[in-house]
Amino acid sequence: MLLDRFGRQAVDLRVSLTDRCNLRCTYCMPEQGLAWLGKPELLTDEEIVRLVGLAVRDLGVREVRFTGGEPLLRPGLVGIVAACAALAPRPELSLTTNGVGLAKVAGALREAGLDRVNVSLDTLDAETFHTLTRRHRHQDVLAGLAAAEAAGLIPVKLNTVLMRGVNDREAPDLLAWCLERGYQLRFIEQMPLDAQHGWDRSQMVTAEEILDRLATRFALTPEPTAVRGAAPAERWLVDGGPGTVGVIASVTRPFCRACDRTRLTADGQVRNCLFATGETDLRGALRAGASDAELGELWRAAMWGKKAGAGVDNPEGIDAPQFHQPERPMSAIGG
Ligand code: 5AD
Ligand code: SF4
Repeated sequence: MLLDRFGRQAVDLRVSLTDRCNLRCTYCMPEQGLAWLGKPELLTDEEIVRLVGLAVRDLGVREVRFTGGEPLLRPGLVGIVAACAALAPRPELSLTTNGVGLAKVAGALREAGLDRVNVSLDTLDAETFHTLTRRHRHQDVLAGLAAAEAAGLIPVKLNTVLMRGVNDREAPDLLAWCLERGYQLRFIEQMPLDAQHGWDRSQMVTAEEILDRLATRFALTPEPTAVRGAAPAERWLVDGGPGTVGVIASVTRPFCRACDRTRLTADGQVRNCLFATGETDLRGALRAGASDAELGELWRAAMWGKKAGAGVDNPEGIDAPQFHQPERPMSAIGG
């Protein structure tokens, strides 16, 4: 089991398959991109499957989510998914993607055993998409969403980050659009995880503001059956249901107390928190010939050192005075 000092158990593993991306979202990375990891530093497909396998067999991991950067840029993705679907016990398998390359591979991913996708989409407007991502790929994402639905990767979930003065007015339109299609929309408060350290708490669109904007068009009631548990999104029924909307208030309503996540970076480092300032090197141990038992022990020790909230010993997390942004940006950790 992956336990920590605060009584939490990590059962949800996020695996970053690459730090590269084909978009340049302003809240994530600079125009010119970043110094990407080199091939020798990346875990191979076989190394990833071995680590996921031992996490599932020996460490109590039940869900595996593939992230990036952009995981669809990983050539071996379909094979990795198929190998993970063949593990016993079989974990739930999902993918967080920007959707750009999804139209082509949604069917193959489904056949390989992928259960669900989370697609990031911040706007319904092609020009605004370009402003936010610096790329003209809006149509590709829309095609990717349609393909995911057609392939049965359902319910299709959408993640949206609102940026003040850019797409914040679109919140109700985005929700209406998702409700029409049966997509589950979740808004995520912008977090201080961008490579260029441009996050500004005073500019962030808060969960409260998001809900106020939605309330101009919809009646929202807290979802009665939803026990929030470890799910970071708080959900509301829209106009009495069955449609819902979620808000992930990582900054203003941190959910660290219920966190059940553990993370593996593309270069084989365990992170016990998105905001952890330290990492545990599994790649070095693995390549030096460590056994599964030894790797499991390292992983357990990494999680035992998890802090109470957002990398600091304070459940206030990001809003705690001693909070420090981690060295590694979101694109190299995974969502
Ligand atoms: N704050 C909040 N969400 C972010 N994402 C990327 N960077 C940030 C950030 N700084 C989102 C992406 C994607 C998910 C993995 O995280 O838009 O939906
Ligand atoms: Fe790429 Fe996701 Fe970062 Fe956008 S937020 S640049 S899609 S990794």
